Amino acid sequence: MFPNPQTILWWTLLSCTCASVVCSSAPARVLVYTATERFRHDSIPTAVEALKNQSSNINVVFDHTEDQTQFTDPVLAGYDAIMFVSTTGEGKASLMRHPVLDASGKAAFQHYLNLGGNFVGVHSSSDSLVNTTFYGNETGAYFDYHPVIQNATVDVVDASHPSTSMLPAEWHIQEEMYNFKSDPRAIGAVVVLSANESSYIDTGTRKFNQGTPHPSAWFQEHGAGVESGNIAGRSFYTSLGHLNETWQANLWRFFPDPLFMAHVIGGLTWTLGANTTRAFNASGLVGNAGSSTSSTASSSAPALSPSDKYAFFC
Ligand SMILES: *[C@@H]1O[C@H](CO)[C@@H](O)[C@H](O)[C@H]1NC(C)=O
Ligand SMILES: *[C@@H]1O[C@H](CO)[C@@H](O)[C@H](O)[C@H]1NC(C)=O
Ligand SMILES: *[C@@H]1O[C@H](CO)[C@@H](O)[C@H](O)[C@H]1NC(C)=O
Ligand SMILES: *[C@@H]1O[C@H](CO)[C@@H](O)[C@H](O)[C@H]1NC(C)=O
Ligand SMILES: *[C@@H]1O[C@H](CO)[C@@H](O)[C@H](O)[C@H]1NC(C)=O
Ligand SMILES: *[C@@H]1O[C@H](CO)[C@@H](O)[C@H](O)[C@H]1NC(C)=O
Ligand SMILES: *[C@@H]1O[C@H](CO)[C@@H](O)[C@H](O)[C@H]1NC(C)=O
Ligand SMILES: *[C@@H]1O[C@H](CO)[C@@H](O)[C@H](O)[C@H]1NC(C)=O
Repeated sequence: MFPNPQTILWWTLLSCTCASVVCSSAPARVLVYTATERFRHDSIPTAVEALKNQSSNINVVFDHTEDQTQFTDPVLAGYDAIMFVSTTGEGKASLMRHPVLDASGKAAFQHYLNLGGNFVGVHSSSDSLVNTTFYGNETGAYFDYHPVIQNATVDVVDASHPSTSMLPAEWHIQEEMYNFKSDPRAIGAVVVLSANESSYIDTGTRKFNQGTPHPSAWFQEHGAGVESGNIAGRSFYTSLGHLNETWQANLWRFFPDPLFMAHVIGGLTWTLGANTTRAFNASGLVGNAGSSTSSTASSSAPALSPSDKYAFFC
């Protein structure tokens, strides 16, 4: 069978990624957290599998958990990034509901961020820990509401960023178009994707000022969840990712979601490029210790310029 154009696009995106990653170095470790205290997306298992499928392409090991007791200083210290995917809710435990993070989990998370830890949020992660100020700042803005899922267009605002450089200028997606309670630019985020509000119908009332253009994805060079006087890692957030189909390499569709995965993976690998964690910085205070560059490893490794070493996407 001859591969169809979408398959070729997929291979191209992946091989282009892999070629520019130092695949010989020990991997970065990322903790994928998908705890839900409220609405549960049935795309969560698909998302986790899709991320794990990218592992060898980007030299990242993904550990997945919904267990808030993993949020302790020693456990989090092993990660180069914490990634919240479609988490919902806060911390009130009840018979029917598990807290997303309790006070001690939040304290460990704050401590992780203070040590240069990185953060990635996807989709309803902006609708979790809504009473946790440092988390809201690390995310950039909280979710307010969305109109029904429908076809819509998002515009690339900053095509120079690794999360958007492969996207068409006007990207057609089927998605819940999120509205936010504040403008992420107000805490220093840079918006990379914006919603074209005339490309879909929103009958709700936008009560908050989320800024212009309407933010859909953004990054922070220095995640604002850090407490002052500490080392800030990077933060990336995208509001996309509701459907299974979005996470699946759906080769028969015209907008198959190699583009979505490339967007998410581009955001993640850019975030890891903060160089504040051990996979990339031997003096990092958190991150995968197995990957600190030893003199033996560096002398036996092929000569690479620093830009090669850290360029994940071409
Ligand atoms: C989405 O995928 C999960 C498995 O990953 C499956 O359990 C669920 O039924 C799927 N949902 C839909 C709407 O196809
Ligand atoms: C993950 O990879 C396996 C093996 O290639 C494939 O069957 C599966 O569909 C992939 N899952 C996702 C969600 O992309
Ligand atoms: C957030 O705090 C407000 C005010 O203290 C409280 O009414 C609300 O129940 C809290 N929400 C959650 C999800 O904890
Ligand atoms: C950021 O933190 C400040 C307090 O330092 C708080 O007033 C503000 O609401 C937070 N922003 C977000 C988006 O959570
Ligand atoms: C959404 O777009 C897809 C093509 O990407 C198309 O197949 C589908 O019919 C559209 N749905 C609506 C409701 O317009
Ligand atoms: C926004 O969407 C409308 C309706 O689909 C379209 O006519 C317009 O060209 C789009 N604008 C941008 C900047 O994408
Ligand atoms: C390496 O990590 C340490 C500790 O987080 C930090 O102080 C230093 O600035 C980092 N180096 C680079 C190049 O980012
Ligand atoms: C991370 O290190 C690489 C290689 O030294 C460098 O090119 C890049 O600018 C650094 N990133 C940051 C945020 O310092």
